[in-house]
Amino acid sequence: MINRDNIREQLLAAAREARHHAYAPYSGYAVGAAVYCEDGRIFTGANVENASYGLTVCAERVAIFRAVSEGARRISALAIVTQDGGTPCGACRQVLAEFADEDLVIWCASEEGADVQEYRFNELLPHAFSLPQRVSGEDELILGGI
Ligand code: THU
Repeated sequence: MINRDNIREQLLAAAREARHHAYAPYSGYAVGAAVYCEDGRIFTGANVENASYGLTVCAERVAIFRAVSEGARRISALAIVTQDGGTPCGACRQVLAEFADEDLVIWCASEEGADVQEYRFNELLPHAFSLPQRVSGEDELILGGI
């Protein structure tokens, strides 16, 4: 279990900073995200849009993929900052499900940061889809990472 007050402020500040790097010329909706990993590391992301709209990647997935591609496997907390305090989209919730700690907490803040909403992952995506993993133990570190 994480020291929540400390992490909350750190994560929100990181997400707010990451939001400045959003590439959102089509929607004008900038998103910053930060994940706190079980190993204590923080990774950030911003949304990256594309002229072919469907290729756009959300800030949350950028942050999650950065974390996982650097070896992290469990995410304990996620913070996102938007203009209106929006929550993660359904696709990002499913991606998060793959790496979510049992008690994953999600903080959603608006750019002013006045009103921070707190959610548990299970309330945002109950009954997430999952598959049984075919490898375990040490193999998981390797094959799960390939
Ligand atoms: N977006 C995110 O980055 N995260 C979400 O959870 C919802 C939507 C981005 C995608 C797009 O660049 C813009 O917000 C408007 O949908």
